[in-house]
Amino acid sequence: MGFTQISPLEIQENASKIIGKDYMLVTAGNKEKSNCLTASWGGLGFMWNKPVACIVIRPQRYTKEFIDREDFFTLSFFDNSYKEMFAFCGSKSGRDVNKIEACNLTPFVTPNGSIAYEQARLVLECKKLYAAPLIAEGFIDKNLLSNYTAGDYHVQYIAEITNCLIK
Ligand SMILES: Cc1cc2nc3c(=O)[nH]c(=O)nc-3n(C[C@H](O)[C@H](O)[C@H](O)COP(=O)(O)O)c2cc1C
Repeated sequence: MGFTQISPLEIQENASKIIGKDYMLVTAGNKEKSNCLTASWGGLGFMWNKPVACIVIRPQRYTKEFIDREDFFTLSFFDNSYKEMFAFCGSKSGRDVNKIEACNLTPFVTPNGSIAYEQARLVLECKKLYAAPLIAEGFIDKNLLSNYTAGDYHVQYIAEITNCLIK
């Protein structure tokens, strides 16, 4: 598959750019069934003495059912030729279409049994450590509440990066 395993501490990428501008696929499930969505909000950092990734997922996402069911999820990063895939996986729900098949993605099983894609250039396998919904009272900048007029506050997941696979 052409991946090399590195320590998360060796990642040389600008997290704001690769998440916020290039986008990532968040995938959860197992080899029998999995689902993914496009995400552009989140972060990479260090918490509880562990390298971590943070993602925020709205309650209505089908992918959330898989994230909540499993101990692990993955973040997959691609080169710039995958913009159409990100648009598709960010607008269609796995409830209606098999996005992995539709996008011709080749899934593989990560060391702890989660799912990522051979076409990715960087894969982070993540083990959930913390999950909780954002709450209105937590917002110091109340302008941000305009993101939640439907009451669909993101659930924040903080997860340990357990494997980092790079090409
Ligand atoms: C560029 C982009 C970024 C997105 N970022 C997020 C995100 O960070 N969290 C989230 O819950 N949804 C995000 N979405 C929306 C989901 O990708 C979208 O609703 C998707 O269709 C959900 O699929 P699912 O129902 O199969 O999980 C984003 C969509 C796009 C296009």
